[in-house]
Amino acid sequence: MNTSTSKIVIFGLPLIVTLISGVILSNSGKPLNSAIFTVHKLIAVGTVILIGANVYKLFKAVDIQIAYLATFGTTGLFFVALIISGALLSLVDGELLNLGETTLQAVLRIHQIVPLLALAASALSIYLLVSSES
Ligand code: HEM
Repeated sequence: MNTSTSKIVIFGLPLIVTLISGVILSNSGKPLNSAIFTVHKLIAVGTVILIGANVYKLFKAVDIQIAYLATFGTTGLFFVALIISGALLSLVDGELLNLGETTLQAVLRIHQIVPLLALAASALSIYLLVSSES
């Protein structure tokens, strides 16, 4: 595996683990299992920090073309959407918030679809950064 590929794997793997822990959490029944929920949250936050810090490092090291910025911005927005929708879902689960069935289903759908978009966008962002580095 060359350096670029291994970097993409290193960043992609925790994101896939977050996705899998989310699916296990969703299937663990209601109210949510707090141990699985804690693992899901911690891995999600760790993944965002890992990707964010390394994208920032690579970002400073390479000569960025302005067109790439849209990809990085979109990737960041996907993660913000995941954190907000995830926080809303956990508040509803803890009965601290009542969204109504339709809104709740919409938020859940966002939290189910955006992980896949975030995965694709992160892979593309990191690919752009590592290929500009070499
Ligand atoms: C990188 C960030 C994240 C990713 C990729 C991610 C991914 C996922 C996925 C794929 C599911 C399963 C959805 C399903 O099959 O129904 C899920 C469920 C869930 N996630 Fe996340 N998540 C992320 C961040 C977060 C954060 C930061 C929180 C909380 C603050 C959170 C809270 C939840 C909750 C509460 C569920 C269960 C939803 C339910 O079934 O009611 N997630 N997540």
